[in-house]
Amino acid sequence: DRLPALLAAMPKAELHIHIEGSLEPELIFALSQRNGIAIPYAGVEELRRAYAFTNLQSFLDIYYAGASVLITAQDFYDMAWAYLRKAAADNVARAEIFFDPQTHTARGVDMATVIDGLHRACADAQKQLGVSAALILCFLRHLSEEDAFQTLEQAQPFLDKIIGVGLDSSEVGHPPEKFARVFARCRALGLHLVAHAGEEGPPAYVWSALDVLKVERIDHGVQSVRDAALMQRLARDRIPLTVCPLSNQKLCVFPDLQHHNLGRLLEAGLVATVNSDDPAYFGGYINENFTQTFAATGLGATQAYQLARNSFEGSFGDATQKQQLI
Ligand code: HPA
Ligand code: ZN
Repeated sequence: DRLPALLAAMPKAELHIHIEGSLEPELIFALSQRNGIAIPYAGVEELRRAYAFTNLQSFLDIYYAGASVLITAQDFYDMAWAYLRKAAADNVARAEIFFDPQTHTARGVDMATVIDGLHRACADAQKQLGVSAALILCFLRHLSEEDAFQTLEQAQPFLDKIIGVGLDSSEVGHPPEKFARVFARCRALGLHLVAHAGEEGPPAYVWSALDVLKVERIDHGVQSVRDAALMQRLARDRIPLTVCPLSNQKLCVFPDLQHHNLGRLLEAGLVATVNSDDPAYFGGYINENFTQTFAATGLGATQAYQLARNSFEGSFGDATQKQQLI
């Protein structure tokens, strides 16, 4: 069976990766020592054993705790560099990387520190790994729109180092409309716009991400299959969905990978893509998402090529770069 080799070797873009979700337990413990920050786990094994999630919130609690060891620009660099090396090994030609600044600024870490470390890693990835990497700032939706506006203000001096903004964290109870004004402001600034919607939340959240926030891509979006009119809209406007199968499995969005709806999304003509979300927590980087999902659902080479093409079509790289990669 040559499918796993094809999935591994094909060039691809990763459009949904939270850099704080690439922080492996080994690096959490190394940074905890380096910075003198205690974490309530005896060691790497005990921490990994705690990665048993029942829903999105049960994951977010431990994900924010893990990120508390990040203090210096070098810490952010080391985390991003470790991810980018893995991405290069998985033949990722383009990575559009989410980061959650409010998780850090709330602990007294400056926006400059966060962006400096991450951006240096992205620049080095282009030079040393041949990976084109860019940053997307995510607002935490469980916090207020006022807090998001303050975060945008703090990021203002560094807007040349980010390509867009997104919306993540606890979805249900925090609909996209809550961030209508801050997204309008980001749009006026010329930033690309994306939002998590339809991971656990209803199709209505996907509609409002499109019509109120005016996002260009939907992160996850797997609940869209519950709304036929929404499926037509996504297909007609070629709105990419950045699907994360291992994440969906680990957060119990689907009972198991065999029941994942990736194949259905592709059959409906949607610009679906495969991504890793939080690979240190969900058991695999992008190629592992491809190989496990294809093995479980019986997708084949045709879908593999389609997903690779979709990933470059959905990316925010400049047109000439996209054309070369497709
Ligand atoms: N959903 C929402 N917020 C997140 C996720 C996710 O899958 N990963 C990291 N923050
Ligand atoms: Zn995500």
